[in-house]
Amino acid sequence: MTDFKNLFNLKGKEIFIVGGSGLIGSQIVKALEEFGAFVTVFDLDAKYKNKNSKTKYIKFNCTNENSIKNFFKNYIKKNKCPNVFINASYPITKDWKKNTFKQINFDSYKKNIQLHLNSYVWLAKSVAELMAKNKIQGSIIQLSSMYGLVAQDPYLYKNTNLSENMTYGVIKSATIHFTKQMASYYGKYKIRVNNLVIGGIEGHIKGSKKKQDKNFLKKFNLKVPLKRMGKPQEIPSSVIFLASSASSYITGSNIVIDGGYSII
Ligand SMILES: NC(=O)c1ccc[n+]([C@@H]2O[C@H](COP(=O)([O-])OP(=O)(O)OC[C@H]3O[C@@H](n4cnc5c(N)ncnc54)[C@H](O)[C@@H]3O)[C@@H](O)[C@H]2O)c1
Repeated sequence: MTDFKNLFNLKGKEIFIVGGSGLIGSQIVKALEEFGAFVTVFDLDAKYKNKNSKTKYIKFNCTNENSIKNFFKNYIKKNKCPNVFINASYPITKDWKKNTFKQINFDSYKKNIQLHLNSYVWLAKSVAELMAKNKIQGSIIQLSSMYGLVAQDPYLYKNTNLSENMTYGVIKSATIHFTKQMASYYGKYKIRVNNLVIGGIEGHIKGSKKKQDKNFLKKFNLKVPLKRMGKPQEIPSSVIFLASSASSYITGSNIVIDGGYSII
């Protein structure tokens, strides 16, 4: 008989999260801990965030080929293969803000695809291989964006402190597709691969410490059926769902968390 009350329990689960020190990642880590998981964060920023936290923080560069090789060769050899792998990283070049249609150059475009898309693809695929080898019926969760589903509206950025980004949609739409491709292939190993499609979240503008300005928020919120941006703490519940046996028959899917933005 199914014990429905405990479907979301993560007690004893080994969970690795890349980018767990970020705006969204840090909220995911907090929730995973509260649901009883053993969490390890792999991030460029590996400072302990919370004194009482049992989470391990490992300094890791997900875009560096040697770091990735070491991660699989040395770290996993000494430690357990994870039951759940989450990628919440957001690697960018220093000139990320110049990835607009007008300002972008080919080198920056290629570098950002390499840093962000290629690391998401390679890490997820490598973890899936490891899970299969260790006979772990794991769950892999990739973070994507509503801008992998719908195009950015240039009007939103006019006279604001934000700008449209040509590369972002290429990366995030490919992540959505690759999740399906992986789910299709690794289903035979009972490994599930799913994707969070996230909308506009309150917080810093990527590549800057500034927050979204009032003019942008006013225009953006009007386009969202729920009439507001999301908060980083509204993301983890879907991660708990996808990480746990509550989602045991869900793979290759997108959970869209965007206040309804992408439906209209
Ligand atoms: N914030 C939003 O509005 C939003 C909206 C939709 C989707 N997303 C997606 O959610 C994910 C997380 O976004 P966020 O806003 O929390 O980003 P963030 O910049 O706050 O956090 C990203 C984390 O990744 C880490 N990181 C960056 N480069 C790294 C590298 N080379 N190696 C290891 N770690 C590295 C950073 O140190 C940081 O802790 C991204 O995939 C992003 O595209 C965010």
